[in-house]
Amino acid sequence: MNNVAITGTGVFTPSLVITNAELVAAFNTYADMWNAENARAIAAGQVAAKDHSSADFIYSASGIKQRYVLDKSGILDPGRMFPNLPARRDTEPSYMAEIGVDAAQKALSAAGRRAGDVDLVICAASNMERAYPAISVEIQKLLGAGGFAFDMNVACSSATFGIQAAADMIRTGSIRAALVINPEICSAHLEWRDRDCHFIFGDVATATLLERDEGLSQPRFKVLSTRCATQFSNNIRNNNGYMRRSHDQMEDRRDMQFMQNGRKVFKEVLPLVSQHIADHLAETGVAASDLRRLWLHQANKTMNDFIGKKVLGRVPAPGEQPNILQDYANTSSAGSIIAFSKHSDDLPVGDKGLICSFGAGYSVGSVIVERA
Ligand code: COA
Repeated sequence: MNNVAITGTGVFTPSLVITNAELVAAFNTYADMWNAENARAIAAGQVAAKDHSSADFIYSASGIKQRYVLDKSGILDPGRMFPNLPARRDTEPSYMAEIGVDAAQKALSAAGRRAGDVDLVICAASNMERAYPAISVEIQKLLGAGGFAFDMNVACSSATFGIQAAADMIRTGSIRAALVINPEICSAHLEWRDRDCHFIFGDVATATLLERDEGLSQPRFKVLSTRCATQFSNNIRNNNGYMRRSHDQMEDRRDMQFMQNGRKVFKEVLPLVSQHIADHLAETGVAASDLRRLWLHQANKTMNDFIGKKVLGRVPAPGEQPNILQDYANTSSAGSIIAFSKHSDDLPVGDKGLICSFGAGYSVGSVIVERA
């Protein structure tokens, strides 16, 4: 079996930012407009008036201060409340490929590699812009990578599941180097008119380069072990899929965007993730006290604080469990990789850390790494 290392990561960050204050102002204007339009039905008790959102609630419930988005004007237009991202023509790069390529080029450059060194491209994300051809094959072509490519979707766990798939192929020798790319255009599957979740997501793309760890001398992270697990739940769900066009094209169905039972997710996912990490550490023979850093999925600060405390058996020291969701919000599968990419270079050789993502499915994936 070959050893595997992460030799580079890259993050594409959109140039546009929406602060909580901007988001709430747009939502509240929309709510006022909707309430005025439906004043009669509201007065007759047929429908409930829409309550205002609040920036204080958003920050205290989630830890999010702002999010990056590919389009701002469409989201903040109270008459629209959806990003203005016109469908790309077949002759143009898809949005996912475009931002994925940017992140991938940064990962290659961080590792001092060329696209030609790569023989597998995985595009792992919670939604795909089209059914086929695979976005990953388009990215492979735009980059000039060799080998083969495929898409996979395990919602928020897509990055760690992609890393396991790539690492296993490097271990067994079917490939030498893989890019796992996570272009997450979450703004296009979020219902911005739903007060309970309109603040949750942002857009980003991340890329992780994995290579056979043989004759490498540059700074890198050895992949000591990976572990994935799933358990079916409807508590995070999006019904949008290829059956929609034929049956429901004309309907404005709420279930065709991200839906969650946030409270249940909170309660059920925490024990699942904590146990998963404990089992993974035990299987690998790594003690929790050996972990110098946790790069956790970025959905909710309270959730991460809880997991960090549970895993380490104490409140994590500042910097031990870096959060990026105050700036990026929840970026689905990309969140733990943004945290890893931005907060890992300072670790000395020999230090160990854990990347962990979790979400819809339910799914949880973890990667134990060691600085080399
Ligand atoms: N502004 C102001 N008030 C709001 C609000 C908003 N935008 N959204 C909800 N509220 C209100 C609710 O109406 C409720 O009021 P009530 O107590 O009078 O009924 C109160 O705030 C609490 O709402 P609730 O939805 O129960 O909040 P919460 O504390 O559970 O936090 C989440 C909501 C979504 C942040 C939290 O449940 C969470 O993070 N869950 C897990 C998310 C997750 O990991 N999802 C995975 C996605 S990948």
